[in-house]
Amino acid sequence: MSEQHVAVVTGANKGIGFSIVKSLCHRFNGIVYLTARNASKGEMAISELNKLGYYPLFHQLDISDEHSVKRFRDYIAANHGGIDILINNAGFQIFRPYKEPLVDVALKTIRANYRNLRDTFKDLVPLLRNDARVINTSSGFGHLSMVPGAKIRAALSKPNLTVDELTRLMDDFIRSIRSGNNIKDGWGDDPYKISKVAIAALTFIQQRELINTNVKVNCINPGYVNTDMTRHMGVLTPDQGAEVAVYVALDAPNSLKGSFVWADKSVIDWTGPFPDK
Ligand SMILES: NC(=O)c1ccc[n+]([C@@H]2O[C@H](COP(=O)([O-])OP(=O)(O)OC[C@H]3O[C@@H](n4cnc5c(N)ncnc54)[C@H](OP(=O)(O)O)[C@@H]3O)[C@@H](O)[C@H]2O)c1
Repeated sequence: MSEQHVAVVTGANKGIGFSIVKSLCHRFNGIVYLTARNASKGEMAISELNKLGYYPLFHQLDISDEHSVKRFRDYIAANHGGIDILINNAGFQIFRPYKEPLVDVALKTIRANYRNLRDTFKDLVPLLRNDARVINTSSGFGHLSMVPGAKIRAALSKPNLTVDELTRLMDDFIRSIRSGNNIKDGWGDDPYKISKVAIAALTFIQQRELINTNVKVNCINPGYVNTDMTRHMGVLTPDQGAEVAVYVALDAPNSLKGSFVWADKSVIDWTGPFPDK
């Protein structure tokens, strides 16, 4: 079994994840795993990086498929024994105008961005080494102020919120949409925003649950990045969008724990006013 340090990036065949892998290959003293749900897309990304002189390893990982996650977990356990850096980057967004009912958009988006990240983390957490760093990719849309209703904001930011309670809140969101009451109830009408707010809330819970370890769990807003997800309207290049993830993974002080780190690498107040930058 290799004793080398190991970094893992999910959803890394393109966009910000691909740039994170490139930057880690350049700077991280260890093995970098580029993972992707589609093996041929992943292998193509590896070839592209090889042409630039970078040599990450590839492993298939579909965070929506529990068998894929468990295969990956078992592979890492057998070959390396642990993970030092886990960057949960894979993400999903359906653009307006929606071609399907809002409730279906919400179900897919909450599953893809919240539930899959939650379950992948749960499967991989036993592999996290002492001093491991976990970076969950939220968004500017993941700031708590994106939720219109004060009562829901209070529930999402309750200091001792549990994963089960957070999941029940996501179920409430779906129910509220299904009954047509989502605006009146204070959820708004944007499932992507709610999914990214949930990732932030989940990050703070995960850090609390690991309080007796040296594992650091933080979430990030990469900024508005020129990728397929923004239909290439983002103002930052993917390499620029990767910077905050790499900063939190490699450069941030050990004291950075359970925080929300903005694209400019500053720690923001998640429950305060929307950051003015
Ligand atoms: N771009 C921005 O301005 C921006 C801003 C804030 C936050 N973010 C977040 O940053 C992350 C990366 O976004 P991006 O802009 O780089 O988007 P992107 O170019 O669309 O890339 C998304 C990546 O996630 C992968 N993915 C989706 N579902 C997956 C699954 N079930 N298992 C494994 N991989 C999966 C995609 O794989 P396929 O190629 O197979 O679909 C793709 O590799 C996302 O979490 C996004 O929400 C982006």
